[in-house]
Amino acid sequence: MKKYYQVIVYFSVIMIVVAFFFSCNINKEKDIANCKPVVNSTDSLIIVDTAKIPKDKFGESVRYVRQLMLNTAYYIGPDGINGKYLRNKMNCTNCQQEAGTKLYSFNLMDSHDNYPQYRAGEGKVLTLAERVNNCIMRPHSGKPLPLDSKEIIAFLSYLKWINGYAPKGKKFKGEKNLEVKFPAVAVSPKRGHILFTKQCARCHGAAGEGIMCADNVTYQYPPLWGTSGYQPGSSMHRIIKQAQWLKANMPQDKATWDKPLLTDSEVLGIAAIVNDDDIHKRPVVKSFDYPFPVEKAIDYGVGPFVDTFSEAQHKFGP
Ligand code: HEC
Repeated sequence: MKKYYQVIVYFSVIMIVVAFFFSCNINKEKDIANCKPVVNSTDSLIIVDTAKIPKDKFGESVRYVRQLMLNTAYYIGPDGINGKYLRNKMNCTNCQQEAGTKLYSFNLMDSHDNYPQYRAGEGKVLTLAERVNNCIMRPHSGKPLPLDSKEIIAFLSYLKWINGYAPKGKKFKGEKNLEVKFPAVAVSPKRGHILFTKQCARCHGAAGEGIMCADNVTYQYPPLWGTSGYQPGSSMHRIIKQAQWLKANMPQDKATWDKPLLTDSEVLGIAAIVNDDDIHKRPVVKSFDYPFPVEKAIDYGVGPFVDTFSEAQHKFGP
């Protein structure tokens, strides 16, 4: 009889521990959901209906990566529950907003059609899986996902699924970011700084450090520079590229692609200050891209170049 009671007591203790463990995990998921920024959606042009993700194994894969893009740090960040791949706590969706489906926001809906593709940055043809890993390694300063990992297979599934929403064989509004007119004079970091304080600091912090969520898993407002920000060599680190993205998307609560808040010269000025490595630290990078300098993008800020312009001119304009 005594043994019988002992079993019941042991069993109850185990159940309490298990229940506690699960409640912690549930809270963690909930915290992530509570710490979500509001996105100014552009879905009026193309509606990606996640309720239509198939209810089979392929759909499971699609759903997993959608969640992973929204909560990248939680799944594969420095303390990721499914692997420690990233070295910072940013999420894919911070730049590829709405998990790559927001238009004019480094939209990913036609990526599945466009790879394999020659990439000047690497000087070779990349598969879509390798391209995904570029983002893990560059803006996220991480180590590549194994090409046969559950995550890479799910990424390819997700990109194929959202590709179903891209009009076939023709361009669509928002597949590329908005254009900005190239500056006639060099952009002024000084002016950019004033604009940054006025338009950006209230969310990203006066020191560009971002605001961490209460659970310390990821950011509510991601950092714009510092050793926890994106690396040099990331697309966001190029001034024209960033300016094109900012125009439609920042400030997050005010700008939309059809009603940008800032002018072309303002977004260029802000991108110049955000990406000014003389005043802002970033993660240290050992090797830079573009093995063939002749193919280097005009706003890539690191030499050697084939032309006679200086690094400053490549970064800030004429
Ligand atoms: C209302 C708050 C808010 C304001 C103001 C704001 N941002 Fe953001 N920003 C965000 C949020 C939230 C994200 C992440 C977007 C997401 O996950 O969908 C973000 C993402 C970014 C990113 C990409 C991720 C990163 O951290 O590198 C950049 C770059 C950026 N913002 C720059 C700016 C600049 C420059 C300004 C000023 C013109 C600005 N933001 C103003 C909220 C804001």
